[in-house]
Amino acid sequence: MTEAANSDDPDGLREGEVAVAPPEKFDAQLFYIGRIRTPWRRREECPKNARESDAECIIELDPRWADGLQGLDRTSHVIVLYWMHEARRDLVLQAPHHYAEHRGTFALRSPARPNPIALSVARLLRIEGNRLSVVGIDCLDGTPLLDIKPYFASTDAVPDAVVGWHVERRR
Ligand SMILES: C[S@@+](CC[C@H](N)C(=O)[O-])C[C@H]1O[C@@H](n2cnc3c(N)ncnc32)[C@H](O)[C@@H]1O
Repeated sequence: MTEAANSDDPDGLREGEVAVAPPEKFDAQLFYIGRIRTPWRRREECPKNARESDAECIIELDPRWADGLQGLDRTSHVIVLYWMHEARRDLVLQAPHHYAEHRGTFALRSPARPNPIALSVARLLRIEGNRLSVVGIDCLDGTPLLDIKPYFASTDAVPDAVVGWHVERRR
């Protein structure tokens, strides 16, 4: 385990953050199935979560997969999974800028994680060929796309769900 000191480098470790050596081999491979086009070129410009911006973003699906969109029209919301390609992958404890204390990677929605997979539930405005217009995305322009799934409010919504540390923070 490597523990590090404060750093001014945006990709460096902050006070209290801990990085570990990743495994030597990968266990699986995946395909980028497209790219997400957004107005944001720098991480600091991005919304912190999917509800923080009303910007219309475009999901450009690789045309080879376009037939996979059949049946998705008339769907109001989609779960979008994407690969945070600029995130580091070795942190186990993190100190995000906007939170006072450090926390474990799996207690956070930070892009920095062993497999930097992000998800957003986005409103689907329209589909034109292999392009989907959506609202509710928080990533850099050009972020690789991993998957698109229909959002089922009947099974995906958990209205009484709680994240303990976040509730306490708001008291
Ligand atoms: C807190 S994460 C949340 C991501 C997703 N909504 C989730 O919950 O999994 C969003 C932040 O990740 C950062 N980010 C966006 N695109 C990125 C990319 N391609 N690589 C690394 N970091 C990225 C930006 O700072 C953005 O505000």
